[in-house]
Amino acid sequence: MLAHKLLLPFAFLAIAGVTTIATSQADLPILPAPLSDDSFLYDGTPSDPLVELGRNLFFDPILSGNRNISCGTCHDPRLGSGDGLALGIGEGGVGSGPDRRTETAVTGRVPRNAQPLWNIGAREYVSLFHDGRVEWIEDGMRIRNPAGDDLPEGVSDVLVAQAFFPVTSPIEMAGQFGENPVAEAAFAEDRPQVWRILAARVASVPAYLDMLKEAYPEITMPHDVTYTHLAEALTAFQTVAFRSDESPFDEILRTGDVSTLSVDARAGLSLFYGRANCVSCHSGPLLTDHDYHAIAMPQIGPGKGHGGDFSYIAETGLAGRTEDEGRYRVSRDTDDLFAFRTPSLRNVTLTGPWGHSGAFDELEEMVRHHLNPIESLEGFDASAVVLPPLDQVMRLSGRGSEFGYGPLDPSQEAAFDLRDTWVIQSPVLRERIAAENDLRAFHLADEEIRQLIAFLESLTDPSAINRSDLVPTEVPSGLAPQPTR
Ligand code: HEC
Ligand code: HEC
Repeated sequence: MLAHKLLLPFAFLAIAGVTTIATSQADLPILPAPLSDDSFLYDGTPSDPLVELGRNLFFDPILSGNRNISCGTCHDPRLGSGDGLALGIGEGGVGSGPDRRTETAVTGRVPRNAQPLWNIGAREYVSLFHDGRVEWIEDGMRIRNPAGDDLPEGVSDVLVAQAFFPVTSPIEMAGQFGENPVAEAAFAEDRPQVWRILAARVASVPAYLDMLKEAYPEITMPHDVTYTHLAEALTAFQTVAFRSDESPFDEILRTGDVSTLSVDARAGLSLFYGRANCVSCHSGPLLTDHDYHAIAMPQIGPGKGHGGDFSYIAETGLAGRTEDEGRYRVSRDTDDLFAFRTPSLRNVTLTGPWGHSGAFDELEEMVRHHLNPIESLEGFDASAVVLPPLDQVMRLSGRGSEFGYGPLDPSQEAAFDLRDTWVIQSPVLRERIAAENDLRAFHLADEEIRQLIAFLESLTDPSAINRSDLVPTEVPSGLAPQPTR
């Protein structure tokens, strides 16, 4: 058998003993080419000093306004490079995974599921975030992004651009108005000021300045350092750290030999590429088409504050539009209402809870959702939703120069908590989500679901189960690295 076989003809699968075979020649599963160094930014090998700088920055709370959270808190290399939660608690929280709690008052929870970062340095990523709001447009000439022209010139990739944004989010990393200068700038939506403060903060730490000089010959003084340098280092680190192409599936892509899979996984593979047609969206070596589809996913959590519905405000008096309209808020094309980017399925067994708001905490439920999205949405049990408790909450009050943050009035606590299930409990909003569904119902037997899941298990790279070695034991700021190793 040829090495680096690109096509896997059905005849071959049959020889290899696949039990569930699609019916016609037209269903031949064409497997993608394997990943290789040149599939990745920097051809997979950015310079060591740049990676080492990025590694320290990734786990150092120095990039957060209140110095209390790092990228690694939400992208934990022990938790599938996410946080193991449906929806996390950003800055102001302590602990990780299911133990995460509020330590100081926060304004709410992070509204979307922390995305896993497996193979995020692959060049085929043309857009980032669940809604693709950081993306290459105009044939790779320009990066559309939430800061528009404020994003500095010379940002060379979407992954570099992405690293400019978590630090400007009050809830994720910046903190709230009045707490620190980064938060003040974030509140005023003066993003360039956020980036300037953080670049100066990092450059003022002698050990970081040394690392920056080593990575960038043009840096000699602290004021030579810009946030772009930091973002590039984070990119180099993520490209190397979260590369994951040693799964049984990768082995098949390299050798063309499926006999290494269990009988169930082989049957699952032929369903995935055949009758179940998962490949129509989950395609290519990363099992995503990088496109957006509305599949009537149940939404939990407070949403992005941008929906079109005012029923929550009307009923509770608390600010907040609740439904997450996904790609529509970027494209303004009504075809994109409630559409989200197809997630990569690499290491998917490690990355739960699943879906853009983490609504499913069982992989089987997530897969079954695809069989009849509308029935699944209608039948979703909101009472089973488990989110980390928000014990300490504050909200903006007052107006003009008089505003500030104060504790939530106890009489409003119940109304505040209602936000987490408002969308899924509302027949009107469920109907709006259902109306946009693009995935037609189809049947699979229980046995076939089991086989599909066996195939999904073959996408797990054993080396991805726990990469806690990535976390440094100490970081130049002298703060405790997060997560703790
Ligand atoms: C408070 C938790 C939190 C922190 C801190 C955080 N992230 Fe994220 N990250 C998320 C969430 C949630 C998303 C998805 C957001 C969305 O789609 O709107 C995300 C998305 C991403 C993505 C896009 C992945 C994809 O598939 O499109 C990258 C890359 C990323 N984060 C890197 C970082 C880096 C680098 C940092 C530190 C500078 C960081 N994150 C800090 C929660 C966090
Ligand atoms: C019409 C396109 C489409 C098809 C076909 C499709 N999916 Fe999906 N899938 C998606 C989208 C979009 C999401 C994310 C939805 C969201 O978060 O709102 C998703 C999410 C998932 C997830 C959760 C991943 C995560 O990280 O949260 C799994 C697992 C999954 N799909 C497996 C499958 C399987 C197995 C099949 C075949 C039975 C399949 N999908 C068919 C579009 C599709």
